[in-house]
Amino acid sequence: MSSYERLKERYTAANQPHVFTYWDKLNEKERDELLQNLNKIDIERANRIFAKSIHASEGGNEQDSIEPLPDDAFDTTIGEENVANVASWRKIGLDAIGAGKVGVLLMAGGQGTRLGSSDPKGCYDIGLPSHKSLFQIQAERILRLQTVAEKELGKPEGSVIVSWYIMISGPTHPATVAFFEKHHYFGLPRSNVIFFEQGILPCFSPGGKVILASPTEIATAPDGNGGLYAGLRAPLSPSDPDHSVLSDLKSRGIEYIHAYAVDNCLVRVADPVFVGYSIEKQADCAAKVVPKAAPHEAVGVVALKGNAFSVVEYSEITKEQAERKDSKYPDRLAFRAANIANHFYTRTFLEEVESFESQLAFHIAHKKIPYCPVDNPTGETIRPSKSNGIKLELFVFDVFPFAKHMFVLEVERKEEFSPLKNAPGTGSDDPDTSRTDILAQQKRFLQRAGASVTEGVVIEISSLASYAGEGLDAVKGKTYIRSGFVGSVEELDALV
Ligand code: UD1
Repeated sequence: MSSYERLKERYTAANQPHVFTYWDKLNEKERDELLQNLNKIDIERANRIFAKSIHASEGGNEQDSIEPLPDDAFDTTIGEENVANVASWRKIGLDAIGAGKVGVLLMAGGQGTRLGSSDPKGCYDIGLPSHKSLFQIQAERILRLQTVAEKELGKPEGSVIVSWYIMISGPTHPATVAFFEKHHYFGLPRSNVIFFEQGILPCFSPGGKVILASPTEIATAPDGNGGLYAGLRAPLSPSDPDHSVLSDLKSRGIEYIHAYAVDNCLVRVADPVFVGYSIEKQADCAAKVVPKAAPHEAVGVVALKGNAFSVVEYSEITKEQAERKDSKYPDRLAFRAANIANHFYTRTFLEEVESFESQLAFHIAHKKIPYCPVDNPTGETIRPSKSNGIKLELFVFDVFPFAKHMFVLEVERKEEFSPLKNAPGTGSDDPDTSRTDILAQQKRFLQRAGASVTEGVVIEISSLASYAGEGLDAVKGKTYIRSGFVGSVEELDALV
C-alpha cells in the first residue's frame, strides 16, 4: 500500500477525509508535503482528545464545588515564626542539589502574544542596567546556586550540576536555540542544557473536523504547557528513540524536579527552600503560591475541587468565588493561594503521568484560525474576523488531582513573583514592573546585609554574585551613593 493510500484510509476511518480535498490539484512536491504533514499527526489521538474535551465542557457546573486548601497541606515561609523552618528546608534542598538529585524544567513554549514581541519571551530585555535577558538571569541563578552548594557543602569547584531542561514549541524552537548559541549558553556547559519540544495538536472546527490551513497543511497549535508531560517522554532525537527527558533524568540520577514559567524575573530557579520543603513533606507534587493581590488578579488559585487539588484559572473562577472571604480571617480572600507556575515533582510522579493521561480533559479555547475552505475549494487561506475554531490545551497543573501527596508552599510575592505578561506601558506585569521589582529586591538584599543605599540610587548585582541575597557580608556598614551594574561583590566598592 502506498503512503497516500495508507493515510487516506486512516484519515477516512478517523472521519477526516476532507484533508485530501485539494489532492487532485497538487503537484508532486505539494503532495509529498501534505503526506509528510499528515504523517506527523496522530489523528486518532487528536480525535479522542477533542471528543473528551467537548464531553467535559458539556458536563455539570464544576465551578460550584471548589473549596479552600486544607491546613495540613499548606505551609508558608512568610513571617518571623517561619525563619527556622525555612533554614531547615533550605538545608535539605541544598543537600539534594549537592548530591546531583535536582533538575530544572523551564516551560518556554508559549508565544507570549500579550507581550507583543515576536521573539521568545525568555530573550526579552526588561531594561535592567546590564540589559540581561530573562534567559540569562535564570542561567546565572543556576550557575550561582551550583557554586553556593559547592561552597556550603565543601564540595570541589565544578562538581555540582543542576541540569536545565527547556521546553520549547514549534513557534519558539529555532529562535530560542539560536539565542542560547549566540550567548554561549550563558556560561553553562552545553551538555547540561537540554531542549525538548512540547507537542502540537490540530485545530478543530466546532463540529470536530480538523481545519486545513492550506491545501497541504492542517492548522496546528502547541498543546498548552501541559504538553510538558508528553514532551518528557518523546525521543529527544529521531536517531535515538530511547533517549527522552525522562530517561535522561534517570540516567543522571535526578529525583526531584522544579518546573517554572519563563516570564517571572524573580524566579528562584531550583529553589532549595521549595525543593527541601517538598522533600521533607514527601510530596510527589507541590506548588509554590503567593497571596493573591486582589480578587480579580489574572492568576489561577490552588484550591480543592471535588476533594482533589486543582488550579482554578482566572478565566474559570466565578465573581462570587473570587471575592469570597476566608471564614477564619475575614480580611483575607478564601481563595488566595495564587498559582505562580512553580511546581515540584518527583521523577517517579512524572513517570506515572502516562498511566492516567487519557483521563485528563484538554481545555477548549475558541480562536480565529486562518483556514482554507473545503466546501468551496479555492486554495486561498482566509483570515476570519471572528472565532471559527478550537485550540486544545492541557495545563501543567491538570495532573494535580492525581497526586497522592500534594503540598502547597506560600512565599512572599515581592521576593519571588513578578511576571512579564503585558506590553511596555501597560502598567501591570510589564517590562517596567519587572525591572522595578528586581531592582527593589537588590536594594533590599544590600540593606539586609547591613548596607545603606542613598535615595534614588539603583544598583543591579549580577545573579552570579548572589542568588537570594547571600554572599554579601562585605557590604556591611557601607553606604552606596552611585548607581550601576556590578558583576561581583568586589565591584560594589566603586559605588560607595
Ligand atoms: C499561568 C498559569 C496561571 C498562573 C500564571 C502566573 C498555566 C496554565 N496557568 O497563566 O495559573 O497564575 O501563569 O503567572 O500554567 N507555555 C508553554 N507552552 C504553551 C503555553 C505556555 O510552554 O503551549 C509556557 C509559557 O511559555 C510560560 C508558561 O507556560 O512560561 C505560562 O504560560 P502563560 O500563557 O504565560 O500562562 P498564564 O495564562 O499567564
